[in-house]
Amino acid sequence: MSKSIAPHGKHTRIPTLAEYDRLYRESIEDPRSFWGKQGERVTWFHPFHSVLDIDTEEVDFSWYQGGRLNVSFNCVDRHAAERPNKTAILWAGNEPGEYKHITYRELKHQVARLANVLKAKGVQKGDRVCIYLPMIPEAAYAMLACARIGAVHSVVFAGFSAESLRDRIIDAGCKVVITANEAPRGPKKVALKHIVDVAVDGLKVVESVLVARRTSTDVPMTVGRDTFLDEEMSRQRSTCPVEWMASEDPLFILYTSGSTGKPKGVLHTTAGYLIYTAMTHDLVFDLRPDDIHFCTADVGWVTGHSYIVYGPLCNGATSVMFESVPNYPDSGRIWSVVDDTKATILYTAPTALRALRRAGDDFVKKHSRKSLRLLGTVGEPIDPETWQWYHDVVGEQRCDIVDTWWQTETGGVLISPLAGVTPMKPGSATRPFFGVKPLLVDEAGAPIEWKQGTAIQGNLCLASAWPGQARTIWGDHRRFRETYFSKFPNLYFTGDGSTRDEDGDWWITGRVDDVLNVSGHRIGTAELESALAQNDAVAESAVVGYPHDLKGQGIYAYVVVKPEFKDQNADQIIGALKETVRHVIGPIATPDRITLVSGLPKTRSGKVMRRILRKVAHGQFTELGDITTLADPGVVEEIIAAAKKG
Ligand code: WT7
Repeated sequence: MSKSIAPHGKHTRIPTLAEYDRLYRESIEDPRSFWGKQGERVTWFHPFHSVLDIDTEEVDFSWYQGGRLNVSFNCVDRHAAERPNKTAILWAGNEPGEYKHITYRELKHQVARLANVLKAKGVQKGDRVCIYLPMIPEAAYAMLACARIGAVHSVVFAGFSAESLRDRIIDAGCKVVITANEAPRGPKKVALKHIVDVAVDGLKVVESVLVARRTSTDVPMTVGRDTFLDEEMSRQRSTCPVEWMASEDPLFILYTSGSTGKPKGVLHTTAGYLIYTAMTHDLVFDLRPDDIHFCTADVGWVTGHSYIVYGPLCNGATSVMFESVPNYPDSGRIWSVVDDTKATILYTAPTALRALRRAGDDFVKKHSRKSLRLLGTVGEPIDPETWQWYHDVVGEQRCDIVDTWWQTETGGVLISPLAGVTPMKPGSATRPFFGVKPLLVDEAGAPIEWKQGTAIQGNLCLASAWPGQARTIWGDHRRFRETYFSKFPNLYFTGDGSTRDEDGDWWITGRVDDVLNVSGHRIGTAELESALAQNDAVAESAVVGYPHDLKGQGIYAYVVVKPEFKDQNADQIIGALKETVRHVIGPIATPDRITLVSGLPKTRSGKVMRRILRKVAHGQFTELGDITTLADPGVVEEIIAAAKKG
């Protein structure tokens, strides 16, 4: 039976920075040999014959061609065979003290049952399944069940509105939606099933809705479409053969915001994604056999996909899944979960840390935190003060911090210290991961050369391919090419700006496109503007970001109301506009500030000069730059006056 407790995946220890340098060089000089070896991290049904094929013309990347494997087999079965009683998922429920240990054996049974339910509903290889669930184990079961039978999941964060959910279901063509009756979230309850009912109303594509019973609340069920997940699962067998997928078969779609249009469905595929998340999880966090990995993200975001579910489970680790919020019932909650679960790694977002720091050190110090050995951050730049607090107060100067930079599109971490290896610098993501070749270019696309001893700044691009990269945008490969590979030819453009310092370390400064990062959540200004346009009072609007103490960036909307609404109470209009955005996108997109103006600063050709709006939103009312090209420069004075008023 269970002989070894070492994780099943292949573990590598990088002992020194010199060894990192050596391996890094190797990974850049001979990527095919480097990544070929990493293929050993997973169990193959059939070996691959080619590590990497690129069609530059088509922007088509194929990793591990010829191979066959299954993600669910790698994340579940091989560990269930070797260490069936090890906890795979340690679930921390919404209420303090509410925990559930799901062993690898149990995980295998639950995943198989859910996979069988999907099959019974007619789901076949290649079909899409939408997952709209709270942070309950069923979310992981559902993802792994899809992977098991070759269905493509599209997880939608359960904080998105019915309209956002509907758009995503239609775009991906989801046959089945998996949801819950309701979702406890801190002191609140979110009526998920009701939201799904609105979202799928009249949609022919959705054949079945599976409803997990998270609470005892009754919900209306549509006969012929809706069934309870627990009832369905209990009727199914606890074994289910896996579908041996080709390396490049789709694994999941995850929607994320861009600078234009509606959110795009980023597509990740099977082998490359799995190998990349497993490897980064192993090396960035210096994974040890007994680690309890606590990532506070939601599975609705890529961090949850890669570092709650796929990376940790592929590595046979124990992954904590946290249903609640950091300030429920009080601001000590995260630390109490750390103590209760004996978490060794904590991976969270700067926005949460800023809020917890503001709540006061007593909340931290009340709890022991002695199990922690490593801290991580992700999602937005971390200011050096918050970094220092994390290090000194939370980690008692005992834990390394890994500031990990990556994106939905990159699948896994691209720039980060390796725990215990890379010297840390508060606020810097430091060095590229193996195989990753960051490059700064100027506005014209010319590479900016870096020399030891001088700092440079520019647009962050990537000059190499890596296995975890997105392959396309679902249904729109052209948009994929145009968004990422056309601004700077032959380079992947991240949308971020960055500095590279005198020592060669990378400091990501934030988005340089029209994408906001609000509390670590990515929201497009175009999306916000089209949401605002759904309110009758709106003639036009322009949205920009501004620095926000807690959220990193706040949402600032300038709105021109239609003449017939001009006499209405401004506060009422502003309240209604906020409600519209919550309704159209979801609460995370609620504008922090709305200023009603009579016109936007436009050039004579009709282009909104966002530069001016950004400066005013930053509280800068002078030195706005050249405004002589504006069709009506007078509008600027008015905007400043309106912004000053509140
Ligand atoms: C954007 C990607 C990566 C998973 C969560 C967010 C920003 C992410 C960092 C970091 C500075 C960061 C970037 C990036 N970002 N990590 N460590 N330092 N900025 O994924 O929603 O796709 O957002 O988040 O601006 O482009 P996402």
